[in-house]
Amino acid sequence: MHILGLANGSIGGNSTILLKAALQSAKTSHPSTTTSWIHIPSLSYPPNAGPLSHAQDVSMGANAGNNVDGSSASLNTVIDDRRALYESIMDADALIFSTAVYSHQAAGWLKAVLDKVLGPYTDPAFASRILAGQKNGEANFLAMSVDERILKPRVCGFLAVGGSTTPDQFTMALPTLHLLAYGLHVKVVDQEVMMGCANPGAVLHARDGGVMRRAEELGRRVASQMGKGFDEAAYLGPKVEGACPQCHLAKYDFFGGEEMRVGCVVCGNTGRFVVQGGKVEVQWDEESDYCCITWRGKEKHIDDIFKNGSAEWKGLQESKEKLQEWRDLDLGRLQLPSEQQAKVVSTLAQMRL
Ligand SMILES: Cc1cc2nc3c(=O)[nH]c(=O)nc-3n(C[C@H](O)[C@H](O)[C@H](O)COP(=O)(O)O)c2cc1C
Repeated sequence: MHILGLANGSIGGNSTILLKAALQSAKTSHPSTTTSWIHIPSLSYPPNAGPLSHAQDVSMGANAGNNVDGSSASLNTVIDDRRALYESIMDADALIFSTAVYSHQAAGWLKAVLDKVLGPYTDPAFASRILAGQKNGEANFLAMSVDERILKPRVCGFLAVGGSTTPDQFTMALPTLHLLAYGLHVKVVDQEVMMGCANPGAVLHARDGGVMRRAEELGRRVASQMGKGFDEAAYLGPKVEGACPQCHLAKYDFFGGEEMRVGCVVCGNTGRFVVQGGKVEVQWDEESDYCCITWRGKEKHIDDIFKNGSAEWKGLQESKEKLQEWRDLDLGRLQLPSEQQAKVVSTLAQMRL
């Protein structure tokens, strides 16, 4: 079984050292385990890149992603590493994310690249709909790309490290990591924030070695659950009072009303505040329709996208001219140096033809 590490901080810095500690102890505790890791900020890919070829078609036929014509403003000399990242994730049985905390959450490189590779492009509920549709010979699904590896069982662990010694500087660190991983239907086995490690290498002596030992423990826990399906793999991480049973974090959206409804900011799970014996507690719903971690929540989301997306698509067919007017409207978009250079190169290429 293979663990892929994703290091998301400075080269040789705290997040990388913690990742190595976790991977090494995973290997030692489960000797058949193999490991590899990727330094996320080193990934190269073109600006404004479209979806990877053969990515699941999330736009009901247009495969537009967020890039209308699939073009990139860059010169085509930028090497695209995203396929290598995607293949590594698909082949892995477990993932360990280890990130520096920037502005209270995982440093942005990770989100930027995973938004181009995972998310809807690897939505497992959508993948299983496509596979079922293809098995039943349904015309809509026959031509759709789907990667069956999306559905293989995976587990993961989260490590986040930052310089501050107070939790207010880490509020969104674990939430962001959950929201980058849930799309894979990966079971989170353990998660930890390491505070008070500012200088590169500080993790080595922090808490008298306790920070490194905690990363090693996370590695062993992840290895111990590898190969198990989402429902069989166990969460072995910290138990937080009032935590959501799905993401194991206690971060609330207060919806209010007579029932004092609450939502989990991280995964959308729902429940209500109750006052019992003078103490406020959260009563989580038995089975919520609105949780991006559960299969039920994922299916619900796909239903929503299918329904709303196809109605939207029909509406768009009737407003093509209006849409073009907005796209052509010139309000002074600055030409970036890279865009100007790309234009010159393409003009020269045309002159040579
Ligand atoms: C742009 C930037 C933003 C940061 N924001 C935070 C923060 O919000 N909370 C925190 O505790 N540390 C913050 N830090 C400190 C880093 O998280 C800390 O130095 C960490 O050890 C870096 O990990 P690395 O060595 O793997 O790069 C920030 C550092 C930088 C450069």
